[in-house]
Amino acid sequence: MLIKSAEFLVSNSDVEKCPKSGLPEYAFIGRSNVGKSSLINMLTNRKSLAKTSGRPGKTQLINHFLINKNWHLVDLPGYGYARVSKSTKKVFQKFITQYFALREQLVTAFVLVDIRHKPQPIDLEFMQWLGENGIPFSIIFTKADKLKPNAIERHVLDYKNVLLETWEEMPNYFVTSSSNETGKEELLGYIGELNANMR
Ligand code: GTP
Ligand code: MG
Repeated sequence: MLIKSAEFLVSNSDVEKCPKSGLPEYAFIGRSNVGKSSLINMLTNRKSLAKTSGRPGKTQLINHFLINKNWHLVDLPGYGYARVSKSTKKVFQKFITQYFALREQLVTAFVLVDIRHKPQPIDLEFMQWLGENGIPFSIIFTKADKLKPNAIERHVLDYKNVLLETWEEMPNYFVTSSSNETGKEELLGYIGELNANMR
């Protein structure tokens, strides 16, 4: 799929105020600093459409982007960021779960995990929660530029093995890097296919 236009629409802390248009929507979720905002910039060929930072906790609101005038990409705050206060964490948690509960136009979620790390309980629990709530998702492994090809393969296989302890099959997944554009075509192609199926 070719990205012809990408524009920032709106930031919200209230799910009720998110765009009402009903355009098909795709949300990026995952731990703080995993690379959600960077991936949006990579996919849309824009350096700073979504704000990124080396320090975790940069994205604090639900950000809607309009792509090719007919679908939405959504940048969400990260979960599991240790340095925010407990009460802030609760607020984040609440609007993240509300987002997934209320956005009927969400076609699928993308759960981002850093390819360098072993499966983390917080990510596995979040995927479990999505499954229990009937919310479709794919996994996006990020920062693949940080590993050599054989290490990438090994880490993906390890992840698969852990998931297959609780899941019947491995969820759909993508290996990506925002630094060198690994996975860009596959991911955009997948979204394009889903969009086509919506019509
Ligand atoms: P929060 O908004 O805090 O939840 O973080 P985020 O998930 O949006 O992460 P963000 O895109 O802001 O990136 C966090 C850091 O990781 C930044 O320093 C990015 O430059 C870096 N980063 C993101 N993607 C990649 C990647 O593919 N490769 C490398 N090497 N670094 C990356
Ligand atoms: Mg972010």
